[in-house]
Amino acid sequence: PETGCLSIIVLGASGDLAKKKTFPALFHLYRQGFLQPDEVHIFGYARTKISDDELRNRLRGYLINEKGASPDQSEILSSFLQLVKYVSGSYDSEEGFRLLDKEISEHEISKNSQEGSSRRLFYLALPPSVYPSVCRMIKQCCMNKSDLGGWTRIVVEKPFGRDLDTAEELSTQIGELFDEPQIYRIDHYLGKELVQNLLVLRFANRFFLPLWNRDNIDNVQIVFREDFGTEGRGGYFDQYGIIRDIIQNHLLQVFYLVAMEKPVSIKPEHIRDEKVKVLQSVLPIKDEEVVLGQYEGYKDDPTVPDDSNTPTFATIVLRIHNERWEGVPFILKAGKALNSRKAEIRVQFKDVPGDIFKCKKQGRNEFVIRLQPSEAIYMKLTVKQPGLDMSTAQSELDLSYRQRYQGVTIPEAYERLILDTIRGDQQHFVRRDELKAAWEIFTPLLHRIDDGESKPLPYQPGGRGPAEADELLAKAGYVQTLGY
Ligand code: BG6
Repeated sequence: PETGCLSIIVLGASGDLAKKKTFPALFHLYRQGFLQPDEVHIFGYARTKISDDELRNRLRGYLINEKGASPDQSEILSSFLQLVKYVSGSYDSEEGFRLLDKEISEHEISKNSQEGSSRRLFYLALPPSVYPSVCRMIKQCCMNKSDLGGWTRIVVEKPFGRDLDTAEELSTQIGELFDEPQIYRIDHYLGKELVQNLLVLRFANRFFLPLWNRDNIDNVQIVFREDFGTEGRGGYFDQYGIIRDIIQNHLLQVFYLVAMEKPVSIKPEHIRDEKVKVLQSVLPIKDEEVVLGQYEGYKDDPTVPDDSNTPTFATIVLRIHNERWEGVPFILKAGKALNSRKAEIRVQFKDVPGDIFKCKKQGRNEFVIRLQPSEAIYMKLTVKQPGLDMSTAQSELDLSYRQRYQGVTIPEAYERLILDTIRGDQQHFVRRDELKAAWEIFTPLLHRIDDGESKPLPYQPGGRGPAEADELLAKAGYVQTLGY
């Protein structure tokens, strides 16, 4: 059911993810009326021994600075915090989880919820190493007592493992305890407005249908840049690196949506079936189509080992072996400590045959989807330069969200995804077979990096990354085009 008593349990309540993403998203949902005070209770669970009020005070400190919060929000913030309770315990202790269950049950009874009809959402804002034990504890101690339409769902975050084998092991362990419809694997890129727009753009517009293929498209770039380094997360980041942190999940999700065939319908299973198919058509990554980088100064972080081989930058070409895409490089590029913060998709078309205007040197048609910052969709095209001459120039057909949708608030990814979890909609979550196919693509390369066979090139922080990456881009066919 979508109504009735709802308990949201944030495990790892004192950690970074809970503080930066989970609680702010819950607060936004509450502010907008999606979490009703007469139905909802939020439980924080972590090892730290603190009281309810201590957790509330900490949360107040984070949430007061949230976007859109104003002094007149403090009342609403206080009423939100009244819904939050705290239980302390370890992640493998039956005692802790029994106590948690008791608290949840008391809340359900106080809301006159019929046993078994209530909803329990467990959000694991925790490192994956504790997922198995936490899932076991939830299963053993905290499930709904009977099934009167209520449910128990768990939300987990990447990294789901380190490679194909460890990911499969984790999936098997969790899969023995919960069924797939109970497991919500978050990739927060799937909650971004323009990522959610991709299927609509592709399949609801006549323009694109005949052009979206190898006959017309020369290359596709999917780019993620950050203008800051690992900043205090060096210890975490060093165990994973940019491929596991960004490319294997966030950029790959964008890649599927650009490359997949039209699903039978927009039902979650139909969409995810198509994603898996396109992944299974990806050819093995070639060594010569990979450039790795590590920014200078990365190892100055005391939590990063002095001999770290971890890439903070990577450009990787993926090639799809199917009728639509044979021969079209998909260039996935991600880097930390670069010159700007941006995520975008650039679909570059082939040159116009028979160039009577001699405009080729100005560049090609491009279709660009900027995911962030300042969401926009634009097409770069050649037009006549206004004036008496018959000269040409590059210009843009520009749909900038800020102008076109003034006053419309674009929801945060986590907000949307948590709401989907409550509603039971798995469209924007990662299915187990999808995860496996994603690891299959990157595992050989990751092992080569882990073994020190592939080494990152140094690059200057605040720049474009290693020059070799631009060379690879040019080799893959990308032509620098004027304009933005
Ligand atoms: C996270 C990564 O998943 O995504 C971080 O672990 C990265 O390293 C972040 O900074 C980027 O998310 P966004 O939404 O700011 O692009």
